[in-house]
Amino acid sequence: MYRARTAYLDPAAIARYEDSRFRGPLGAYKLRRERRVVRSALAALPPNLRAVDCPTGVGRWISTLADRGHQVIGVDISVAMLTEARRRAEGVAAVHAEAEHLPFGDDCVDLVFSFALAKHLPREVLFGVLDEFVRVARIGVVCTVNTTPPVLWAWAKRRAPRSRAVDLAVLRSWAQSRGLSLRDFGRCHSPIGMERCLLLRGTD
Ligand SMILES: C[S@@+](CC[C@H](N)C(=O)[O-])C[C@H]1O[C@@H](n2cnc3c(N)ncnc32)[C@H](O)[C@@H]1O
Repeated sequence: MYRARTAYLDPAAIARYEDSRFRGPLGAYKLRRERRVVRSALAALPPNLRAVDCPTGVGRWISTLADRGHQVIGVDISVAMLTEARRRAEGVAAVHAEAEHLPFGDDCVDLVFSFALAKHLPREVLFGVLDEFVRVARIGVVCTVNTTPPVLWAWAKRRAPRSRAVDLAVLRSWAQSRGLSLRDFGRCHSPIGMERCLLLRGTD
């Protein structure tokens, strides 16, 4: 199992989590921007879907998904995160599992939503996780990915050492090899501003 950002796994870190990410006017601006981008990606899919939010973290996106009428199952490897998600979104189904091995059958839900996971994954893990999302999602996968161009990787590493990029061209050819279309909804939160919200869905 690959544990991204293990600092978030203890309850004290959870309390600092959103505060640190969205502090001040710049933080508020980033939050507005990422909400806008996520809502537009979700609007490209039908309402009232069965959705897996992986990783759900503290359940930050559950209400956004529920606003579209989606029935949400939150998945995370951190029990503390899931406990907080359950507290914030009363009645939400919360499942302790890892993104690499989701405990769901093929096409078991309609949508997998994944915000701020891919950028933490080593490339060899990333494509396995995306395959897993595609396996369980009947309609589509909305995920954020750091797509900083390779020419900027050395610079980006210095700016945000824990954020890992993948070349968009590589991602596109992976999607093509799986018979998926890849639609880019634009920039969302990232210290280096290169993270984008993507929709993967079948082409047939
Ligand atoms: C940056 S947070 C993102 C949470 C949420 N999507 C958000 O935008 O607030 C990363 C979360 O990923 C979880 N996580 C890390 N590695 C994971 C894995 N392999 N499978 C499932 N969850 C994982 C962590 O426990 C943490 O809650």
